Amino acid sequence: MIQMKLISKRFGSINPLSIDSYMNADGYKGLEKALKMHPNKIIDELEKSRIRGRGGAGFPAHTKVRALSKQSGDKYIVCNADEGEPGNFKDRSIMENDPHAIIEGMIILAYATGASKGIIYIRGEYQNAIMIMKASIKAAEEKGLIGENIQNKSFDFKIEVRSGAGSYVCGEEFSLIESIEGKPGRSRTKPPYPTEKGIHNLPTLINNVETFANFSHIILMGGDEFAKIGTKSSTGTKLISLSGNVKNKGLYEVPFGTSIRDVIFKLGKGVKNNRKIKMVQLGGAAGPIIPEYMLDMSIDFDRFENFDSKTGTGAIIVIDDRFDLFDILLINMKFFVNQSCGKCAPCREGHVQIVNLLNKFINHRATEKDLMSLENLANVIQQTSLCGLGQSSMTSIISSLRYFRDDYFSKVRY
Ligand SMILES: Cc1cc2nc3c(=O)[nH]c(=O)nc-3n(C[C@H](O)[C@H](O)[C@H](O)COP(=O)(O)O)c2cc1C
Ligand code: SF4
Repeated sequence: MIQMKLISKRFGSINPLSIDSYMNADGYKGLEKALKMHPNKIIDELEKSRIRGRGGAGFPAHTKVRALSKQSGDKYIVCNADEGEPGNFKDRSIMENDPHAIIEGMIILAYATGASKGIIYIRGEYQNAIMIMKASIKAAEEKGLIGENIQNKSFDFKIEVRSGAGSYVCGEEFSLIESIEGKPGRSRTKPPYPTEKGIHNLPTLINNVETFANFSHIILMGGDEFAKIGTKSSTGTKLISLSGNVKNKGLYEVPFGTSIRDVIFKLGKGVKNNRKIKMVQLGGAAGPIIPEYMLDMSIDFDRFENFDSKTGTGAIIVIDDRFDLFDILLINMKFFVNQSCGKCAPCREGHVQIVNLLNKFINHRATEKDLMSLENLANVIQQTSLCGLGQSSMTSIISSLRYFRDDYFSKVRY
């Protein structure tokens, strides 16, 4: 068995719309334990667990939590459930199957940091998840787990649901903040970071859905025990959204350190019709494209660091040999043309030029000079864009230039 179910262990065995069902399956036990601890001790446990954020970049969770705890006055805790990255469906699965695990994690962090305002920002298309999260917040309020003077601990915490309008960039933390403030979703320059100046200039902690779902497990088992799962640099388990040309598509949970090949062949049961793998895209449209011979690479934030910040979302998209590299690149780049917020020129103009260059390759009109232009432009977009969208969107181009260079040469006109 290569699966290890921690976050998904209650999926299918509890009724997500029943708080009692959750409580009968050890739900809210982590909160009960946390409320008996000093807030700083909770953050110490997170530090010992060495958990890194599951939104993509793998930032150490305790660093942001401690930074928020040091701020005084009103503060926000935000759960990022925008999940706009193509190929990802893990956050929707948590919301629809185990919604209280997210709420419990948010309350634990509110107690640890002194935050009184909570927001779950959910992708607008996820109407079912929105309904479930709203009903679950209400149920937690009725049990006295959210509201004023929670469990007689003299701390107040409220949670509300906000939904995005389908813009991918609103998952980026500053665009998300702008969207919550009622403005168009556009990024800001940083610093200051959200934990210093976030929503309405108040300190704000933003974490991914899967990150929140880990917190009660860490408190219950203790940080040291949690850190024994996975690898030295990436502790715990990872939800994997496996899609594309595999026999068994779906959501799987594995300890960090599992190889991509095992996920595809042992859990996904290999490629449909036993065709050959042409390429695998990791993380989503903003992730790298790697060849079959690299599939023994393990799922680990440090390994992924060579690529980009979005690889760590856990999406694995398998593409078989019926597909041409340029089909996939063109789909990715058209997505970014549509999703660019338009604030900075490298991203707004650059993606359009990249699409034009790709079309030249597809129509066998590209020259070696176009290959150089593509490479240079991709680097410029990556290095000079204002926010993470433009900084990560070129990863599939840059990785394909490294691993599939012959595909480019086969289309160049000499
Ligand atoms: C274009 C773009 C889209 C993003 N979309 C999401 C998203 O849908 N969900 C998410 O958790 N993080 C997303 N992120 C990352 C967030 O900015 C942020 O790093 C993350 O929510 C932090 O949570 P974590 O520390 O728990 O990983 C996105 C980043 C970029 C650049
Ligand atoms: S990189 Fe793209 S999405 Fe980000 S601010 Fe610039 S134009 Fe907007």
